[in-house]
Amino acid sequence: MTVDIPPVKQGLKFPDSITFNKFFKPVRIEADVHDLEVQGTIPAVLQGAFYRLGADAQYPPHLGDDIYLNGDGMMTMVRMENGHADLRTRFIRTERFKAERAARRSLYGRYRNPYTDDASVRGKDRGTANTSAFWFGRKLYALKEDNRPTEVDPHTLETIGKTDFHGTLNGRTFTAHPKIDPISGNMIAYAYNSDALVSRFIYLYEISPAGRVLREERFEAPYASMIHDFLVSENYIAFTLYPMIADQARIEAGGPFFSWDPSHQTVVAIIPRRLGVAGLRWYHSPKLVMETHTMNAWEEGSVLHLEHFISNSGWYSQFPHVSDPNPKEEPPFGQRWSFDLADPRDVFTVTPMVPHPGEMPVVDGRFSGQFCRHIFFGAINTQLGPMLDWGPMGPPFNCLAHLDQSTSAIDYYYPGPDASTEEPVFVPKSPSALEGDGWLISVIGRRDLNRSDVVILDSLNLAAGPVASIEVPFRLRYAFHGCWAPADELGW
Ligand SMILES: [Fe+2]
Repeated sequence: MTVDIPPVKQGLKFPDSITFNKFFKPVRIEADVHDLEVQGTIPAVLQGAFYRLGADAQYPPHLGDDIYLNGDGMMTMVRMENGHADLRTRFIRTERFKAERAARRSLYGRYRNPYTDDASVRGKDRGTANTSAFWFGRKLYALKEDNRPTEVDPHTLETIGKTDFHGTLNGRTFTAHPKIDPISGNMIAYAYNSDALVSRFIYLYEISPAGRVLREERFEAPYASMIHDFLVSENYIAFTLYPMIADQARIEAGGPFFSWDPSHQTVVAIIPRRLGVAGLRWYHSPKLVMETHTMNAWEEGSVLHLEHFISNSGWYSQFPHVSDPNPKEEPPFGQRWSFDLADPRDVFTVTPMVPHPGEMPVVDGRFSGQFCRHIFFGAINTQLGPMLDWGPMGPPFNCLAHLDQSTSAIDYYYPGPDASTEEPVFVPKSPSALEGDGWLISVIGRRDLNRSDVVILDSLNLAAGPVASIEVPFRLRYAFHGCWAPADELGW
């Protein structure tokens, strides 16, 4: 008797590319680790949970390679209670995740390009829910700008599902960078490519803590492009638009969703919040630049200040130049753009804020929209130590930085030559603490140990080093944006 043994299929293997190799190799671990090791002491006020969201990858891409931004949402939670820290990591159970798990392979194609999907999932939801962990109205959301928010259970990290805010959200997309107005407590948000795969309309929303859209308006941009972040002051909303253009024909041909097209200009839209889009004013930047992330916006008399990180090039590690096959990617630098709204001319002034590259900024959210003296961000300062090997999104940060705008002094935390930092999350030391006086939480990627630490730093004394370093016994794949939820809001 003979038995037919089926041929062995090739085993699962991620490509040996910059997105998937070395320190950025997919981790895919869904873990529960009770009582992590802690060096130092977790501050008593930190009763609650730190969340971060990033892109991991459940399966190797069926098209051969991919960009980092197209990974599956992976949420990390570090729950802190009476000096103890417990870790939980979970993939977000999107439709894409569930379909690929059932098929045991990648089915979805290029970033935001449905024309590159396997026929079995054509027309199905493509959301990855991988960009920003956001706490609002006692709910935890996983946000990604090409889809609606996904609600996640803040205790178990189980995926609850996509939300339309009780039927009040009309669009199909929602920003990963909403702002909380500290005066009203409402969320100010926007959406783009909301009424079609590619669209020039930008939708503005104001959402109550009860999770209902209170106000919706829209305006038309001069081109359809990536709009990753925006700015909100007490009385104004501002967008910096840059020509990371989405082109329907290119997308239908299976190409990249965005390309940098220098035939267009960088423009700024300033919208008075009370009057709305009826009061919109356009400004034209004399230089072709890209805004990466925003710090804060504030008003001084008739002058509106926009503080943000600005790059002199496109984001070529993720999206190509429309015609140059070998473009040089420039790092982002902090800048203040100041607009005198009493001046009818189309002009603004630019003031450098930081002398070296930086990104992923945060301010004390209790004061956002007003002048914030203290700004915190990831940075690359080669006076502290060497550059790290380039990752899939350019050079990693080698330090955390604190800019004191009253003195222009910058204080640093340098984690060592083989370590990178991630976006800091700010938690005030008490409800009445002065602006900027808090704890910064950040994940440190330790290349020499192939694992991660969660560090807690005194926001006004970074150079002193962590007051607590929480050891994660494996590597957390580099993530994007996080938040803090206090225990009383979590209902502990
Ligand atoms: Fe972002």
